Amino acid sequence: MAGRSLRSQVRYSVRAATTAFKVGVAIGLGSLAAATAVAQQPTTTTPDLHRGQVLSYTCLGCHGIQGYRNAYPNYAVPRLRGQSEQYLINALHEYKSGQRDYPTMRMQAMSLSDQDIVDIAAYFSGKPLAAAATAPTLPVPEAAQLCVSCHGPEGIAVAPMYPDLAGQHASYLTRAIQEYHNKDRQNPIMDSMAASLTQADIATIVDYFSSLRPGLRTEPRPFFGWPDHQPSKASE
Ligand code: HEC
Ligand code: HEC
Repeated sequence: MAGRSLRSQVRYSVRAATTAFKVGVAIGLGSLAAATAVAQQPTTTTPDLHRGQVLSYTCLGCHGIQGYRNAYPNYAVPRLRGQSEQYLINALHEYKSGQRDYPTMRMQAMSLSDQDIVDIAAYFSGKPLAAAATAPTLPVPEAAQLCVSCHGPEGIAVAPMYPDLAGQHASYLTRAIQEYHNKDRQNPIMDSMAASLTQADIATIVDYFSSLRPGLRTEPRPFFGWPDHQPSKASE
């Protein structure tokens, strides 16, 4: 619980810092010229949601389409809306450095500066997930007991560097866990977590986390409105 409150404090200060900026920005950008102009701004650590939106334009060709799937191997492109900002930052750095080996995402991340990554992560993350106060809590299946100490019983991570799993596509979660299990995706914590899971455990775990709500969502398509820092719609 302490971890979660730390996370909300971090997010609160990030939001507060960006709100003032957001209000004053003009609508209707998205041209290459605009993207180039913003890319030349000096690096700061304060996320700029407007820059994030402009820079995310190409990303939404995959991450902004409901149920869009990667062809080979076949699994759904991960949902990013509501995901921890810090986790998204870490993931993009891992693709950029090649530590996380996925060619399409490496190409996407290679040209991003540290500031680009901060801005994109803030834009994609949007409003962080928060557990519904009244939601009935499903019993955590035995196979997932250990997982919830970091990823939370509601699938909402207890600290910013851990990803949220609630509502993530089942096929993507399966793929990610299999990759850790096979050591194709290397992470000291997760490789050991996944090493001893059976295929039946993986299926149970994936069913559990992917069905939790409130959950991660597919990014809204660009330029139909500002990043929604409003409460998420219950429908998805
Ligand atoms: C051609 C489709 C495509 C495009 C374009 C694309 N992505 Fe991805 N993205 C994927 C796929 C597929 C994965 C899962 C890769 C894997 O298994 O590691 C992924 C994974 C990610 C992840 C990791 C999510 C997680 O839960 O670990 C992040 C973050 C991400 N993408 C951000 C971006 C950003 C930012 C851009 C634009 C700069 C972008 N993507 C462009 C297909 C795409
Ligand atoms: C000690 C904390 C911890 C525990 C316990 C833990 N995880 Fe993780 N998990 C992490 C971290 C850290 C990452 C990010 C690793 C990376 O960058 O590859 C992660 C990543 C993941 C991802 C990838 C999410 C994505 O969006 O790509 C999945 C899926 C996952 N964990 C499932 C599990 C499951 C299933 C268990 C239980 C068997 C588990 N985790 C236990 C810390 C933990």
